[in-house]
This record gives sequence, C-alpha cells and structure tokens, in this order.
Amino acid sequence: MSHPLLHLLFCFLLLLPFSSVAQTNGTVDIGSSITATVKADTPWLSPSQDFAFGFKQLQDNNLFLLSIWYYKIPDQTIVWYASNSNGGVLASPGSKVEMTADKGLVLTDPQGQELWNSGSVVDRVAYGFMNDTGNFVLVGGGSVDIWQSFDYPTDTMLPTQIMETDGVLYSRQTQMNFSWGRFQLRLLEDGNLVLNTRDLSTNFAYDAYYWSNTYDGINFTNRGYRVIFYETGYMYVLTRSNQRKILAPSLVPSGDYYHRVTLDFDGVLTQYYHPKTENGNPKNWTVFWTHPDNICVDIVGKQGRGACRYNSICTIDDNRRPVCSCPEGFSLLDPKDKYGDCKPSYTPSCEEDDHKSSNSDLYDLSVLIDTDWPTSDYELLQPSSEQMCRNSCLQDCFCAVAILRNDSCWKKKLPLSNGRKDSIVNGKAFMKFRKGNLPPPTTDPRFPLRDIKKNDRTLIIVGSVLLGSSLFVNVALISAFCLGFFLVYRKKILKNRDGLGAAETNLRWEFETEGEDRAILTDWVCDCFLKDRLVALVEDDSEALNDWRNVQRFLMVGIWCIQEDPSQRPTMRKVTQMLEGVVEVAMPPSPSQFSFLS
Ligand SMILES: *[C@@H]1O[C@H](CO)[C@@H](O)[C@H](O)[C@H]1NC(C)=O
Ligand SMILES: *[C@@H]1O[C@H](CO)[C@@H](O)[C@H](O)[C@H]1NC(C)=O
Ligand SMILES: *[C@@H]1O[C@H](CO)[C@@H](O)[C@H](O)[C@H]1NC(C)=O
Ligand SMILES: *[C@@H]1O[C@H](CO)[C@@H](O)[C@H](O)[C@H]1NC(C)=O
Ligand SMILES: *[C@@H]1O[C@H](CO)[C@@H](O)[C@H](O)[C@H]1NC(C)=O
Ligand SMILES: *[C@@H]1O[C@H](CO)[C@@H](O)[C@H](O)[C@H]1NC(C)=O
Repeated sequence: MSHPLLHLLFCFLLLLPFSSVAQTNGTVDIGSSITATVKADTPWLSPSQDFAFGFKQLQDNNLFLLSIWYYKIPDQTIVWYASNSNGGVLASPGSKVEMTADKGLVLTDPQGQELWNSGSVVDRVAYGFMNDTGNFVLVGGGSVDIWQSFDYPTDTMLPTQIMETDGVLYSRQTQMNFSWGRFQLRLLEDGNLVLNTRDLSTNFAYDAYYWSNTYDGINFTNRGYRVIFYETGYMYVLTRSNQRKILAPSLVPSGDYYHRVTLDFDGVLTQYYHPKTENGNPKNWTVFWTHPDNICVDIVGKQGRGACRYNSICTIDDNRRPVCSCPEGFSLLDPKDKYGDCKPSYTPSCEEDDHKSSNSDLYDLSVLIDTDWPTSDYELLQPSSEQMCRNSCLQDCFCAVAILRNDSCWKKKLPLSNGRKDSIVNGKAFMKFRKGNLPPPTTDPRFPLRDIKKNDRTLIIVGSVLLGSSLFVNVALISAFCLGFFLVYRKKILKNRDGLGAAETNLRWEFETEGEDRAILTDWVCDCFLKDRLVALVEDDSEALNDWRNVQRFLMVGIWCIQEDPSQRPTMRKVTQMLEGVVEVAMPPSPSQFSFLS
C-alpha cells in the first residue's frame, strides 16, 4: 500500500480533476450530462470555480446526491441538493443528470427511470448556467431565468439569495442523512421569520422557538415579506415599509470570506464564514451567529420533544450547538443516534409489591444540578422541603423525576421532554432509578439471547420471570409469540399430517424429533396456570416466589397474547399497560381448543 510509486500515482490522481479542468465559463449546453460514478465525472463549474454542480458521493454508502457545493475549499460543503417532499433524492451509481431543452434538468436512474426533474418549464431552455453565487439557473430564449436553484432552497441560503413569504428551509435528519429533519425555518404570512420543530409524518408545526419580531397583526405595511441575504454577508427580514431587521448581532467579519446560513440538523440556524483562499484564517467554517442563542432552553413547547429527544438532557457547547445525553438509568433507544430518544432501563411499575413500604429497597434518586424538563409536570408540592420532595417521588410510582426550586417541588412523569441542563434552570432534579439496574440484555450472562432458539421456550418464560426487568418484558413477549406460533403450527401439522409441503416437512421433522417434549412442556405451563398450580411451575425457587404477583401477571398476559381467536388478543398498548401493572389483567381463557383444559 505504501509503495512510493503507488503513493505518487495516488496523489497524481487526486490532483487530476483540478489540473485537467478546462477553462469554464459556467455555461452548460443542452444535451450535456453527468453520470454518478465513484470516479465522478467532472462537475459543472461556475466561472470562478467557487461552486460546482454534480454528484456528490455520500459517506458510508454507495449513493449519490445531485448537489451544489463549494469547489475550491477542502471542506466541499454541500449548499443545495435535488429534493422531493421527503428530502434529498438519492441516486444509485450509474444515475445520470441531463440538461434538456424541454424539461430542464432531468435526473434518471441507471434503468432510465426518472428520479427528479427541475419542474415544469414553461419556456424552452437555451442553456444552463452555474453562477459564481452558487445559484444554478436555466436560461430561456430571451435570456430570462426560467428556473433557479435559489428558488428551491434545502437547508442553506447564500449571499444574494432571497426567501419570499411562505418560503421554507428544512434541517437534515442527521449530518449525513439528507431526508428532511425535525426543524424548519419559515417566513410566515404574518411577517415573522420563525424556527420551529415539526411532526415528521404530518408536517404539523409545533410552537416556534425563535421569531424575528417582524410581525404586525394590524398594520400590513409593517410585516416582513422577504428574507434577503445581502451580498456583503448580512441577512435581514425586509418589511413592506422597507424596514430592515438584521439577524446578525454584530458586524460581519471583514475579509475575503464565503458566507452561508444553514439550518443545521440539530435545529440551530447558523451563519458561518470561511476564507476563500488557502492562507486565510480561520481554516474551517467558523460560526458568526446562531439563532436561537441557546436552543436547549429556548424550545419550551408543550408538544414535541425539544432540542434533544425524549428523556434526554441538552447542554449547549461553545459553538452554541446542543449536546444530548441520557441521564443515569437511561440509555439511547438507537445506540447509533446520540441525538435520539433515551429509554429507561427499568420498566416503571405501579404494582403494590414494587411500591409498598419505603421503596428504598428498590429505587433510589440521583441528584442532577441545574437540570429540568419543564413541560412534563403532573403535580406541584408547595411548600416542600428537599426531604419531602425526595420522599414524595420515591413513594409515587408515577414519579420519574422531581424538581426542587426554592420551596416548590414539581413531580414529573415519563416521557420527559425539553430536557436541559443550564445555569438558568437554578434547581435540583431528583431522578429515580432502579437499584442494580441490569446491564444491556445481550451481555447478561444469566440469560444469553441466542438461547431462545435452541432452549426450551417454557424454560424461558420461567427463567425470565425471575429477572423482573424490561428485558423480561421483551422476553415474555417473544416467548408468548413463540408459544403461540408453536401452538398454531402444531395444530396445522396435526391437521395436515398426510399432505405436507416441502417447507412443512422440516417443521414436522423438528416437531417429531424434539418437538414433542416442548409440546408437552408448553401445554404443561398453561395447564399449571389455569389449574392454579403455578407453584409447581416455578417449583421452590424463592426469588420467583417472592415476586409471585408478577409471575402470575406476566403469564396471564402471555396467555392472552396467544389466543387463537384474534379478536380475543389485547392490543399492544393494552399489553404494555398490563405488563406495567397499570391495568388489571383478567383471567385468560384457554388459548386453543385442542390443547389443554380438556
Ligand atoms: C461559453 O463557452 C462556450 C464554449 O465553450 C460557448 O459556446 C458559449 O457561448 C460561452 N458562453 C458565454 C456566456 O460566454
Ligand atoms: C449571476 O449572479 C449575479 C448576481 O446575482 C447576476 O448579476 C448575474 O446576472 C448572474 N448571471 C447569470 C448568467 O444569470
Ligand atoms: C435517512 O433517514 C430516514 C428516516 O430516518 C431513513 O428512512 C433513511 O433510510 C435514511 N437514509 C440513509 C441514506 O441512511
Ligand atoms: C402603518 O405603519 C406605517 C409605518 O409604520 C405608518 O406610516 C402607517 O401610518 C400605519 N398605518 C396605519 C393604518 O396605522
Ligand atoms: C474549527 O477548527 C478549530 C480547531 O481545529 C475547532 O476548535 C473549531 O471547533 C472548528 N470550528 C467548527 C465550526 O467546526
Ligand atoms: C426563589 O427565591 C429567591 C430568593 O428567595 C427569589 O429571588 C426567586 O425569585 C425565587 N424564584 C422563584 C422561581 O420563585
């Protein structure tokens, strides 16, 4: 790999696109095209080569994005990309973009299927042009711009770009996922430029967390109607009476800089600058301003999840960016998404057994300073001492965290939203956690998950009852499912003994060789239960006997789930509630006619 010749060749190849680029005047003739390949075709460059239009390969996967980016700086930041109602249009290798006279820009996949086009073009296109401003335009017959990328912004605006009323910028999902994310910048009819979170499925806009104050409910002339990114680097909202509301809090840094305003994936609207030349300073994109100033404390809407998501805590870093973390006793729902929801590592339960006496055997409180989830209250104790506040939460099975500020104690329930840690919070949080929380399921030596397939399923039910944790809940569900699956198939096989297809032959073999034992065992579990002989099931295991109510409840839920008649089966929501002990579990009937209770 490190052979000097190879190295030289490699460097040469890297340099090639730069040195071999012919002089360009920015014009893209009709019939020109670019194909998405790993050794990408030369993009279409602006005359100064500041910007390029073409395919950018996405990190980590073999997909391409039709986009516009800064061409001359090492960090070739993307400023625009072809998008549909879900966000960036991803193109597989071999996809092609073509400049056509009648349809403008057309993006097709390797099979020739159209993935995207620049939209209804009224006039015939004479040529395309990559402007030095970063705007790609389609020029019509009379030298009129009939389409421009500036009119279809994604998450970024550039100097000379204008946003009209009803204009929108969307954040990305993550830094490298170009689907539309949770955050929006919109210029509303009422004149305000606002930032808000939204619901991803319906696009419903939650409360704004920043607004420009260019709103006038009565006097139309005072309303903002345009956001202008002036070429000198100032962005402002222009009102109809020609007032300018400048978004920058200070003077634009002087020097030869690129400027961009991006709604970052974390919801912060940021103006960045970057030197145009190699020897300029600072070397990377530097933050000029952000809105809001502190996203962690500025998102307070009752709906939505806040800057970070459920049960998470947001802190602001030096670049005014949010940093999300899970509190003690919680972990990331998706371990790869550090901005994602946090799940509690225990299942909160209101079972009497769990919550009788002082509870201090099972639960404890961790203390977090200056931390709050301001929108998750359900009870306020006032006046309250610290001791009262602690005890009240410990003994209340609904309480996930209590916040003490002055002499007030707010009790809060899950899921917690809008979590933040900031000195303005000025209070103490008592966060409930279950003592001796279990390690992640896969590393639990008592109960390796791979055993589910091989070992007897009945034993799993019994074994997992002993764990009494959220892991247990999962396993109980899996077991119930397996049990149901097994019962259904067993019945099928019994029915079709003579006419088995090839696939079922295997099954039959399995059941005939090792299945009989299981059949007997599963029947036996249900049998024991329905005949009120659960003691026989767990024998004399003292841990299980102590947790008797749970054993009973979980088994009942399991049997409800495997009812042969689908209308008898509870909904998933009901199951969760039953498992958590929030609702009573009724005595289940026998799951199938042929098995037990004969
Ligand atoms: C740009 O260059 C092409 C040839 O490379 C030429 O046909 C075209 O007229 C030029 N356009 C402008 C605007 O100068
Ligand atoms: C490029 O952008 C500048 C500034 O907006 C504009 O004056 C110029 O006409 C544009 N060029 C073309 C060919 O559209
Ligand atoms: C981006 O995120 C969306 C929604 O979470 C997902 O459906 C999509 O597969 C992701 N795209 C990539 C390229 O990972
Ligand atoms: C609306 O506001 C403008 C500018 O502030 C002012 O000149 C005008 O008189 C106002 N109109 C009304 C009807 O108040
Ligand atoms: C720019 O680079 C410096 C030093 O490497 C780093 O501290 C800073 O966070 C970077 N700025 C941004 C916006 O990434
Ligand atoms: C808490 O108490 C301090 C001093 O006793 C007072 O200044 C402050 O306003 C109080 N804060 C709240 C939220 O009541």
